[in-house]
Amino acid sequence: MSQSIETLLNEQRIFMASDEFRVNATHSDPDIYKIAQSDRLGFWEAQAAKLDWFSPWQSVLEWQRPFAKWFVGGTLNASYNCLDVHLPTDRRDKAALIWEGELGDVRTLSYAELHDEVARFSSVLMARYGIQKGDRVTIYLPLIPESVVAILACARIGAIHSVVFGGFSAQSLIDRIHDSGSRLVITADGGYRRGKVIPLKDIVDEALEKCPSIEAVVVVRHVGNPIHMHAGRDDVYQEIMAETSDLQDALPMDSEDPLFILYTSGTTGKPKGIIHTTGGYMTHAKYSTQLVFDLKPSDVYWCTADVGWITGHTYLVYGPLANGATVMMYEGSPDYPDKNRFWDIVERHKVTILYTAPTAIRAFMKWGDHLPGMHDLSSLRLLGSVGEPINPEAWMWYYTVIGKNRCPIVDTWWQTETGGIMISTLPALSPMRPGYAGLPLPGIEAQVLQDSGVPIEAGGGLLSIMSPWPSMARGIWGDNERFKSVYWDTFETYFAGDGATVDDDGYIMVLGRVDDVLNVAGHRIGTMEVESALVEFEGVAEAAVVGVADDLKGQAILAFVILKEGVTPSKELERAAIEWVGKMIGAIAKPKQVVFTPDLPKTRSGKIMRRVLKSVANGQALGDITTLANPEVVDFLERQLNSV
Ligand code: PRX
Repeated sequence: MSQSIETLLNEQRIFMASDEFRVNATHSDPDIYKIAQSDRLGFWEAQAAKLDWFSPWQSVLEWQRPFAKWFVGGTLNASYNCLDVHLPTDRRDKAALIWEGELGDVRTLSYAELHDEVARFSSVLMARYGIQKGDRVTIYLPLIPESVVAILACARIGAIHSVVFGGFSAQSLIDRIHDSGSRLVITADGGYRRGKVIPLKDIVDEALEKCPSIEAVVVVRHVGNPIHMHAGRDDVYQEIMAETSDLQDALPMDSEDPLFILYTSGTTGKPKGIIHTTGGYMTHAKYSTQLVFDLKPSDVYWCTADVGWITGHTYLVYGPLANGATVMMYEGSPDYPDKNRFWDIVERHKVTILYTAPTAIRAFMKWGDHLPGMHDLSSLRLLGSVGEPINPEAWMWYYTVIGKNRCPIVDTWWQTETGGIMISTLPALSPMRPGYAGLPLPGIEAQVLQDSGVPIEAGGGLLSIMSPWPSMARGIWGDNERFKSVYWDTFETYFAGDGATVDDDGYIMVLGRVDDVLNVAGHRIGTMEVESALVEFEGVAEAAVVGVADDLKGQAILAFVILKEGVTPSKELERAAIEWVGKMIGAIAKPKQVVFTPDLPKTRSGKIMRRVLKSVANGQALGDITTLANPEVVDFLERQLNSV
């Protein structure tokens, strides 16, 4: 890590968008920064006014730290702003979604068709299941058009959606259903991943044995695999949709009515249900998508994230649809059936904007230039990166091999909690520097702070957002105390949990998490979550988990495990422990390696010294270890790791 930071700090290259790009960009007036700065609230009001409101707001912002209310008193509907607003325009019959399945099947839905499907499903949710405003609905689907339909159908009637990534296990699903108190689950028979069927319905069945709050399950028939339907509880989506032609109108929601809950990992074992509300979230989703991606209705815009993550919420569903673009969706894996799948999709569907994660870019780089070289990528005009720091080498590869030196890259920093992009260059306005996210967006005030909370002019520190913004999290579902302590106890302002540097010109480079949250392939995983899973594995007495630098995934998980008396360490046991974590949380949380050890580095009071474990795992200098009670264990661990 320290080596990569050094390389980054020496990064001096600067790139500008081409004249052609700048001339055609929607936002090319540099005054946007000044305008936002001189009247921040007025600027946000102007952005909010670009949505369709049923009734106007009375005040822009009510701020009682740490709880914000934006556009107070106004009413609107998120689904209406993504669908109905386009119906009287020439966007009505153009593609809202182009979906490609892993097997190669393609489905296209125009704005009118997507509207009808969503409105019909809203009507089913209300009439058949009695779902009402404020009810929670869990969505556990593969990346198929019905995931967008389900999200927008909930939003249409004010049901709060809680999307759970389809790669999460039954146990993770149980935890999220319990915490949110959902009434309904929307799932599919299965999904495809690298040609294999993931049996989502079986996973739901297993989870629901422990979820009494769930009254009904809607199952989208997608794969056609055999499934068990529980009479009186389960319905097939296609069947119940065929029974109704009623189109439910979008209901007016208060600006501050919750739109969704999305669970994300923190430093404790329990994921946090981040709450986003309607008016502020939609304002930033629409504004930032147009500004950062220069998104136009003529674009075929492909965000490769799953709807199970915040990127999928804001930049696959709400942002691009509110802007009337054509959204490309691909269900499967980038290497199926071949490693050129992404470039094949870009060529066939004439994708103009590609937004993906550094992990994917590094994998493409490793697979070789000949694969994109086989395809015509000339439709691309802008590239985006999200989820983790992008190393300059991967940035340059993305820029030259995929963008052919003519597509600006936006490196976008943000979080589940921020709801939308906070820091990024603007493609037609700011110079790009590999490794740097850039400047805070107009309307956003971000700074790098010293531990004392004093802003740093130039240098390294902790990233903080200095004033409330419309799409900020409104709390943690059922746990406002945790919301306060995690984000608002460190500084007076919002503490993001990331380390960053800032240059003389205000450019911010985000270095990564400073807490016990790991970032594996752009996915947030709490060390405590993995540790809790490991100690539930038979034979494990104690576990400590750290992140270790990984060429492809950014970070990988390394677990140190103390076994119970009489249990013998073995390769089989290591494999079984890794599988167990996959079963308890999901495949993304599987450790790369489990090291069995008789002891862990501890202080005299018995506290595990995670810092020492991190250094050992990454082969770095140990620093001050005078408080360590058992230094001999460090030698043991170093030998173990070196022997692999
Ligand atoms: O550490 C930062 C990293 O991802 C974290 C947020 O994770 P999540 O809530 O899952 O949202 C991911 C997608 C927005 C941040 O705290 N991160 C996200 N984008 C970047 C990044 N780190 C560096 N550069 C980025 N562009």
